[in-house]
Amino acid sequence: MAKVPSVEFSNGRKIPVFGLGTWKSKPGEVTQAVKDAIDAGYRHIDCAHYYENEAEVGAAIREKIDSGVVKREELFITSKLWSTFLRPDLVEPTLKLSLKNLGLDYLDLYLIHWPCALKEGGAFLPKRPDHDVLSEFSDVDYIDTWKVMEQVAKKGLTKSIGVSNFNKRQLERILEIAEIPPVNNQIECHPYLNQKKLIAFCKSKGITVTAYSPLGSPDRPWAKPTDPILTEDHKIKALAAKYKKSSAQVILRYLIQSGVIVIPKSVNKKRIAENIQIFDFELSADDMAVMDTFDCNGRVCWFVEAVGHPHYPFNDEY
Ligand code: A2P
Repeated sequence: MAKVPSVEFSNGRKIPVFGLGTWKSKPGEVTQAVKDAIDAGYRHIDCAHYYENEAEVGAAIREKIDSGVVKREELFITSKLWSTFLRPDLVEPTLKLSLKNLGLDYLDLYLIHWPCALKEGGAFLPKRPDHDVLSEFSDVDYIDTWKVMEQVAKKGLTKSIGVSNFNKRQLERILEIAEIPPVNNQIECHPYLNQKKLIAFCKSKGITVTAYSPLGSPDRPWAKPTDPILTEDHKIKALAAKYKKSSAQVILRYLIQSGVIVIPKSVNKKRIAENIQIFDFELSADDMAVMDTFDCNGRVCWFVEAVGHPHYPFNDEY
Protein backbone atom coordinates (compact mmCIF):
# COMPACT_ATOMS: atom_id res chain seq x y z
CA MET A 1 0.00 0.00 0.00
CA ALA A 2 1.31 3.46 -0.92
CA LYS A 3 2.87 5.42 1.92
CA VAL A 4 1.70 9.04 1.80
CA PRO A 5 3.94 11.65 3.44
CA SER A 6 2.52 14.44 5.58
CA VAL A 7 3.40 18.11 5.97
CA GLU A 8 3.21 20.10 9.15
CA PHE A 9 0.88 23.02 9.71
CA SER A 10 2.05 26.14 11.56
CA ASN A 11 0.16 24.82 14.60
CA GLY A 12 2.25 21.60 14.64
CA ARG A 13 -0.52 19.31 13.36
CA LYS A 14 0.04 17.23 10.22
CA ILE A 15 -1.87 16.77 6.97
CA PRO A 16 -1.27 13.95 4.45
CA VAL A 17 -0.12 15.57 1.18
CA PHE A 18 -2.54 13.40 -0.79
CA GLY A 19 -6.28 12.94 -0.28
CA LEU A 20 -9.56 12.14 -2.01
CA GLY A 21 -11.64 14.97 -3.48
CA THR A 22 -15.43 14.58 -3.24
CA TRP A 23 -16.73 17.61 -5.19
CA LYS A 24 -18.99 16.29 -7.99
CA SER A 25 -19.08 12.78 -6.51
CA LYS A 26 -22.72 11.77 -6.60
CA PRO A 27 -24.32 10.63 -3.33
CA GLY A 28 -24.96 7.22 -4.90
CA GLU A 29 -21.30 6.72 -5.83
CA VAL A 30 -19.32 8.42 -3.10
CA THR A 31 -19.78 5.87 -0.28
CA GLN A 32 -18.15 3.15 -2.36
CA ALA A 33 -15.47 5.59 -3.59
CA VAL A 34 -14.47 6.55 -0.03
CA LYS A 35 -14.40 2.87 1.01
CA ASP A 36 -12.23 2.01 -2.00
CA ALA A 37 -9.98 4.97 -1.24
CA ILE A 38 -9.46 3.98 2.40
CA ASP A 39 -8.72 0.40 1.30
CA ALA A 40 -6.16 1.78 -1.19
CA GLY A 41 -4.38 3.69 1.59
CA TYR A 42 -6.05 7.12 1.46
CA ARG A 43 -6.26 8.71 4.90
CA HIS A 44 -7.26 12.25 3.90
CA ILE A 45 -10.78 12.99 2.62
CA ASP A 46 -11.75 16.47 1.44
CA CYS A 47 -15.44 17.27 1.96
CA ALA A 48 -17.78 20.26 1.99
CA HIS A 49 -21.34 21.06 3.03
CA TYR A 50 -21.84 22.50 -0.48
CA TYR A 51 -21.13 19.13 -2.13
CA GLU A 52 -24.37 17.75 -0.64
CA ASN A 53 -22.89 14.32 -0.08
CA GLU A 54 -21.35 14.49 3.40
CA ALA A 55 -23.80 11.93 4.86
CA GLU A 56 -22.78 9.44 2.16
CA VAL A 57 -19.06 10.17 2.73
CA GLY A 58 -19.67 9.74 6.46
CA ALA A 59 -21.34 6.34 5.96
CA ALA A 60 -18.10 5.05 4.39
CA ILE A 61 -15.90 6.56 7.09
CA ARG A 62 -18.03 5.05 9.85
CA GLU A 63 -18.02 1.63 8.21
CA LYS A 64 -14.23 1.64 7.90
CA ILE A 65 -13.81 2.75 11.51
CA ASP A 66 -16.41 0.28 12.85
CA SER A 67 -14.84 -2.64 10.98
CA GLY A 68 -11.40 -1.77 12.39
CA VAL A 69 -9.72 -0.90 9.07
CA VAL A 70 -8.77 2.59 10.33
CA LYS A 71 -8.99 4.56 13.54
CA ARG A 72 -10.52 8.04 13.59
CA GLU A 73 -7.18 9.54 14.60
CA GLU A 74 -5.53 8.05 11.50
CA LEU A 75 -7.92 9.93 9.23
CA PHE A 76 -7.71 13.58 8.18
CA ILE A 77 -11.16 14.99 7.37
CA THR A 78 -11.72 18.48 5.97
CA SER A 79 -15.03 20.27 5.56
CA LYS A 80 -15.94 23.79 4.45
CA LEU A 81 -18.32 26.55 5.48
CA TRP A 82 -20.49 27.51 2.52
CA SER A 83 -21.00 31.15 1.52
CA THR A 84 -24.60 31.45 2.73
CA PHE A 85 -23.40 30.61 6.27
CA LEU A 86 -20.61 33.18 6.78
CA ARG A 87 -22.67 35.28 9.20
CA PRO A 88 -21.03 34.79 12.63
CA ASP A 89 -24.06 33.22 14.34
CA LEU A 90 -24.30 30.57 11.59
CA VAL A 91 -20.72 29.25 11.77
CA GLU A 92 -21.00 26.86 14.72
CA PRO A 93 -24.40 25.35 13.80
CA THR A 94 -23.22 24.84 10.20
CA LEU A 95 -20.02 23.13 11.31
CA LYS A 96 -22.08 20.94 13.65
CA LEU A 97 -24.36 19.98 10.77
CA SER A 98 -21.32 18.79 8.78
CA LEU A 99 -20.16 16.82 11.84
CA LYS A 100 -23.60 15.23 12.14
CA ASN A 101 -23.70 14.35 8.44
CA LEU A 102 -20.18 12.94 8.53
CA GLY A 103 -20.85 11.09 11.80
CA LEU A 104 -17.82 12.64 13.47
CA ASP A 105 -17.26 14.54 16.69
CA TYR A 106 -14.47 16.70 15.32
CA LEU A 107 -13.02 17.81 11.98
CA ASP A 108 -9.32 17.95 11.26
CA LEU A 109 -9.66 21.09 9.17
CA TYR A 110 -12.52 23.54 8.61
CA LEU A 111 -12.21 26.08 5.81
CA ILE A 112 -14.16 29.18 4.81
CA HIS A 113 -15.15 27.91 1.34
CA TRP A 114 -15.08 31.34 -0.39
CA PRO A 115 -14.44 34.89 0.84
CA CYS A 116 -17.75 36.04 -0.73
CA ALA A 117 -20.77 35.85 1.58
CA LEU A 118 -24.11 35.18 -0.12
CA LYS A 119 -27.59 35.93 1.19
CA GLU A 120 -28.35 33.72 4.17
CA GLY A 121 -31.34 31.52 4.78
CA GLY A 122 -32.17 30.13 1.36
CA ALA A 123 -30.58 28.24 -1.52
CA PHE A 124 -26.80 27.70 -1.63
CA LEU A 125 -26.81 29.96 -4.70
CA PRO A 126 -29.68 32.38 -3.97
CA LYS A 127 -30.97 33.62 -7.33
CA ARG A 128 -31.09 37.36 -7.93
CA PRO A 129 -34.50 38.20 -9.37
CA ASP A 130 -33.00 40.72 -11.83
CA HIS A 131 -30.13 38.59 -13.16
CA ASP A 132 -29.69 35.22 -14.86
CA VAL A 133 -26.37 34.26 -13.30
CA LEU A 134 -25.53 36.36 -10.24
CA SER A 135 -26.49 35.32 -6.72
CA GLU A 136 -27.77 37.70 -4.06
CA PHE A 137 -24.84 38.90 -1.97
CA SER A 138 -24.63 39.33 1.79
CA ASP A 139 -22.61 42.16 3.33
CA VAL A 140 -20.94 39.89 5.90
CA ASP A 141 -17.18 40.42 5.96
CA TYR A 142 -15.13 37.20 6.17
CA ILE A 143 -13.06 38.90 8.89
CA ASP A 144 -16.06 38.59 11.22
CA THR A 145 -16.49 34.97 10.14
CA TRP A 146 -12.84 34.28 10.97
CA LYS A 147 -13.28 35.41 14.58
CA VAL A 148 -15.90 32.67 15.03
CA MET A 149 -13.75 30.14 13.16
CA GLU A 150 -11.23 30.74 15.95
CA GLN A 151 -13.92 30.09 18.55
CA VAL A 152 -14.99 26.75 17.04
CA ALA A 153 -11.33 25.70 16.90
CA LYS A 154 -10.89 26.62 20.56
CA LYS A 155 -13.95 24.52 21.39
CA GLY A 156 -12.31 21.52 19.70
CA LEU A 157 -14.98 21.12 17.00
CA THR A 158 -12.13 21.28 14.50
CA LYS A 159 -8.41 20.76 15.10
CA SER A 160 -7.32 23.38 12.55
CA ILE A 161 -8.87 26.23 10.58
CA GLY A 162 -8.14 27.73 7.19
CA VAL A 163 -9.59 29.28 4.08
CA SER A 164 -10.25 28.47 0.45
CA ASN A 165 -10.15 30.65 -2.66
CA PHE A 166 -8.55 33.57 -0.79
CA ASN A 167 -6.17 35.88 -2.66
CA LYS A 168 -3.03 37.47 -1.23
CA ARG A 169 -4.77 40.63 -0.05
CA GLN A 170 -7.54 38.67 1.63
CA LEU A 171 -5.01 36.46 3.42
CA GLU A 172 -3.18 39.58 4.59
CA ARG A 173 -6.41 41.00 6.01
CA ILE A 174 -7.00 37.77 7.95
CA LEU A 175 -3.41 37.62 9.18
CA GLU A 176 -3.68 41.20 10.47
CA ILE A 177 -6.49 40.36 12.88
CA ALA A 178 -5.95 36.64 13.49
CA GLU A 179 -5.35 35.29 16.94
CA ILE A 180 -5.19 31.85 15.29
CA PRO A 181 -3.71 32.21 11.79
CA PRO A 182 -5.07 30.07 8.92
CA VAL A 183 -2.98 26.93 8.41
CA ASN A 184 -4.12 26.26 4.85
CA ASN A 185 -5.49 27.93 1.73
CA GLN A 186 -7.23 25.56 -0.66
CA ILE A 187 -7.07 26.91 -4.21
CA GLU A 188 -7.52 25.74 -7.77
CA CYS A 189 -4.10 24.55 -8.92
CA HIS A 190 -2.98 22.40 -11.85
CA PRO A 191 -0.47 22.74 -14.72
CA TYR A 192 -2.72 25.23 -16.60
CA LEU A 193 -2.96 27.41 -13.46
CA ASN A 194 0.13 26.62 -11.43
CA GLN A 195 -0.33 29.44 -8.89
CA LYS A 196 3.41 29.96 -8.31
CA LYS A 197 3.00 33.46 -6.87
CA LEU A 198 0.16 32.68 -4.48
CA ILE A 199 1.90 29.49 -3.34
CA ALA A 200 5.14 31.43 -2.66
CA PHE A 201 3.20 34.05 -0.71
CA CYS A 202 1.39 31.42 1.35
CA LYS A 203 4.67 29.66 2.06
CA SER A 204 6.24 32.92 3.25
CA LYS A 205 3.40 33.22 5.79
CA GLY A 206 3.50 29.60 6.97
CA ILE A 207 0.24 28.73 5.18
CA THR A 208 0.12 25.36 3.41
CA VAL A 209 -1.65 25.15 0.04
CA THR A 210 -4.04 22.45 -1.11
CA ALA A 211 -4.59 22.12 -4.86
CA TYR A 212 -8.22 21.54 -5.79
CA SER A 213 -9.15 20.45 -9.30
CA PRO A 214 -5.59 19.08 -9.63
CA LEU A 215 -6.61 17.23 -12.80
CA GLY A 216 -8.41 20.30 -14.17
CA SER A 217 -11.87 18.95 -13.22
CA PRO A 218 -12.91 17.67 -16.66
CA ASP A 219 -16.26 16.70 -15.08
CA ARG A 220 -17.12 20.28 -14.08
CA PRO A 221 -20.76 20.83 -15.03
CA TRP A 222 -19.96 23.87 -17.21
CA ALA A 223 -17.19 22.25 -19.31
CA LYS A 224 -17.61 22.82 -23.05
CA PRO A 225 -16.79 20.04 -25.54
CA THR A 226 -14.07 22.26 -27.04
CA ASP A 227 -12.29 22.92 -23.71
CA PRO A 228 -8.85 21.31 -23.47
CA ILE A 229 -8.62 18.23 -21.22
CA LEU A 230 -5.49 18.30 -19.10
CA THR A 231 -4.99 14.53 -18.93
CA GLU A 232 -5.25 14.40 -22.76
CA ASP A 233 -2.53 17.05 -23.29
CA HIS A 234 -0.09 15.41 -25.71
CA LYS A 235 2.98 16.94 -24.06
CA ILE A 236 1.92 15.56 -20.69
CA LYS A 237 1.17 12.21 -22.33
CA ALA A 238 4.72 12.18 -23.71
CA LEU A 239 6.16 12.73 -20.24
CA ALA A 240 3.86 10.04 -18.87
CA ALA A 241 5.21 7.56 -21.44
CA LYS A 242 8.77 8.48 -20.45
CA TYR A 243 8.10 7.73 -16.77
CA LYS A 244 5.82 4.73 -17.51
CA LYS A 245 3.07 6.47 -15.56
CA SER A 246 -0.33 7.88 -16.52
CA SER A 247 -0.89 11.56 -17.34
CA ALA A 248 -2.85 11.93 -14.11
CA GLN A 249 0.05 10.51 -12.10
CA VAL A 250 2.53 12.89 -13.76
CA ILE A 251 0.26 15.88 -13.07
CA LEU A 252 -0.24 14.89 -9.42
CA ARG A 253 3.48 14.23 -8.97
CA TYR A 254 4.27 17.64 -10.48
CA LEU A 255 1.99 19.32 -7.95
CA ILE A 256 3.45 17.36 -5.01
CA GLN A 257 6.99 18.31 -6.09
CA SER A 258 5.77 21.93 -6.37
CA GLY A 259 5.04 21.79 -2.65
CA VAL A 260 1.26 21.54 -2.59
CA ILE A 261 -1.20 19.03 -1.19
CA VAL A 262 -3.40 17.30 -3.82
CA ILE A 263 -6.98 16.02 -3.58
CA PRO A 264 -7.89 14.37 -6.92
CA LYS A 265 -11.53 13.36 -7.17
CA SER A 266 -12.47 9.97 -8.51
CA VAL A 267 -15.38 7.58 -8.05
CA ASN A 268 -13.69 4.87 -10.11
CA LYS A 269 -11.90 2.13 -8.15
CA LYS A 270 -9.15 1.73 -10.74
CA ARG A 271 -8.43 5.47 -10.96
CA ILE A 272 -8.65 5.85 -7.17
CA ALA A 273 -5.90 3.21 -6.89
CA GLU A 274 -3.90 4.75 -9.76
CA ASN A 275 -3.90 8.29 -8.37
CA ILE A 276 -2.19 7.39 -5.09
CA GLN A 277 0.70 5.61 -6.88
CA ILE A 278 2.82 8.75 -7.14
CA PHE A 279 5.29 8.26 -4.32
CA ASP A 280 7.51 5.77 -6.17
CA PHE A 281 8.93 8.09 -8.85
CA GLU A 282 10.30 11.60 -9.22
CA LEU A 283 10.15 14.10 -12.09
CA SER A 284 13.58 15.48 -12.98
CA ALA A 285 14.28 19.20 -12.61
CA ASP A 286 14.19 19.50 -16.40
CA ASP A 287 10.79 17.83 -16.61
CA MET A 288 9.47 19.99 -13.75
CA ALA A 289 10.55 22.96 -15.88
CA VAL A 290 8.66 21.52 -18.87
CA MET A 291 5.54 21.12 -16.70
CA ASP A 292 5.93 24.75 -15.58
CA THR A 293 5.57 25.92 -19.19
CA PHE A 294 1.93 24.78 -19.38
CA ASP A 295 0.75 27.61 -17.10
CA CYS A 296 -1.76 29.72 -19.09
CA ASN A 297 -4.15 31.28 -16.55
CA GLY A 298 -6.37 28.30 -17.28
CA ARG A 299 -8.73 28.76 -14.35
CA VAL A 300 -11.87 26.61 -14.55
CA CYS A 301 -13.60 27.55 -11.28
CA TRP A 302 -14.54 31.21 -11.59
CA PHE A 303 -17.52 31.28 -9.18
CA VAL A 304 -19.41 33.30 -11.80
CA GLU A 305 -22.37 33.71 -9.41
CA ALA A 306 -20.21 36.00 -7.26
CA VAL A 307 -18.57 38.16 -9.95
CA GLY A 308 -18.81 41.78 -8.81
CA HIS A 309 -18.97 40.81 -5.12
CA PRO A 310 -16.88 43.22 -3.01
CA HIS A 311 -14.81 40.23 -1.88
CA TYR A 312 -14.62 38.45 -5.25
CA PRO A 313 -11.11 36.92 -5.16
CA PHE A 314 -10.10 36.78 -8.81
CA ASN A 315 -9.77 40.45 -9.74
CA ASP A 316 -6.29 40.75 -8.23
CA GLU A 317 -3.28 39.31 -10.05
CA TYR A 318 -3.03 36.63 -7.32
P1 A2P B 1 -13.80 9.66 -12.33
O1 A2P B 1 -14.43 10.17 -11.07
O2 A2P B 1 -14.77 8.95 -13.22
O3 A2P B 1 -12.54 8.88 -12.10
P2 A2P B 1 -10.41 16.88 -10.39
O4 A2P B 1 -9.88 16.09 -9.23
O5 A2P B 1 -9.40 17.78 -11.01
O6 A2P B 1 -11.72 17.57 -10.06
O7 A2P B 1 -10.75 15.83 -11.57
C1 A2P B 1 -11.75 14.86 -11.40
C2 A2P B 1 -12.09 14.30 -12.75
O8 A2P B 1 -10.96 13.60 -13.28
C3 A2P B 1 -13.23 13.33 -12.76
O9 A2P B 1 -13.93 13.44 -13.99
C4 A2P B 1 -12.54 11.98 -12.66
O10 A2P B 1 -13.35 10.97 -13.22
C5 A2P B 1 -11.32 12.23 -13.50
N1 A2P B 1 -10.17 11.41 -13.09
C6 A2P B 1 -9.80 11.07 -11.86
N2 A2P B 1 -8.68 10.32 -11.86
C7 A2P B 1 -8.33 10.19 -13.15
C8 A2P B 1 -7.26 9.53 -13.81
N3 A2P B 1 -6.35 8.85 -13.14
N4 A2P B 1 -7.22 9.61 -15.18
C9 A2P B 1 -8.15 10.28 -15.87
N5 A2P B 1 -9.18 10.93 -15.30
C10 A2P B 1 -9.27 10.89 -13.95
